[in-house]
Amino acid sequence: MQQKKHSTSRGRSKSLYEIRKSTIQGRGVFARRRLRPGQKIIEYTGDLIPNDEADRRYDEEKMKRHHTFLFTLDDDRCIDGNVRTNDARLINHSCDPNCEAIIEDERIWIYALRNIQPGVELGYDYKYERTGGKEMEKFYVCHCGSPKCRGSIMAPAKRRKKKSAPGKRNSGTGV
Ligand SMILES: C[S@@+](CC[C@H](N)C(=O)[O-])C[C@H]1O[C@@H](n2cnc3c(N)ncnc32)[C@H](O)[C@@H]1O
Ligand SMILES: [Zn+2]
Repeated sequence: MQQKKHSTSRGRSKSLYEIRKSTIQGRGVFARRRLRPGQKIIEYTGDLIPNDEADRRYDEEKMKRHHTFLFTLDDDRCIDGNVRTNDARLINHSCDPNCEAIIEDERIWIYALRNIQPGVELGYDYKYERTGGKEMEKFYVCHCGSPKCRGSIMAPAKRRKKKSAPGKRNSGTGV
């Protein structure tokens, strides 16, 4: 199933960013002018497909490291953004993101989270679902270079709740 075509201000948004080689991975998307917090930058478009079709398109068993253009829309479907017209597919992951991806009426939009100066690479937190154990960390290794880098483009590992010692109250931190 093809994603419906929407009229967007692609021409206008194209002047907001440029695509070039990234030190993070492959190509990346960089601000061309100053972007403001909350500014809508670009839509993540592509084919709206069910998860089993995504598994057919991207065989992770055959990959040395994770590399796809899939964006999860809900439990059953995702958008395969690997279409030439979708510049947002080239936005890399950052553990200290200056952008966020928001789903609105089944469309995915990238917004600025803070002031972004011209020349700065755009990044949002992919938060890929954790699969497998520790051995998968290498497959999803992160090169965002941030001092806050958690080492992985997967979502942070859920920390287990500490059991309170008998007679003591939990600290309330939830960890
Ligand atoms: C949607 S593509 C992003 C564009 C990519 N740079 C390119 O040129 O194709 C997503 C893939 O890029 C790579 N990637 C993105 N951010 C990364 C990061 N912070 N560290 C390592 N690899 C990253 C991963 O292989 C990921 O599966
Ligand atoms: Zn990182």
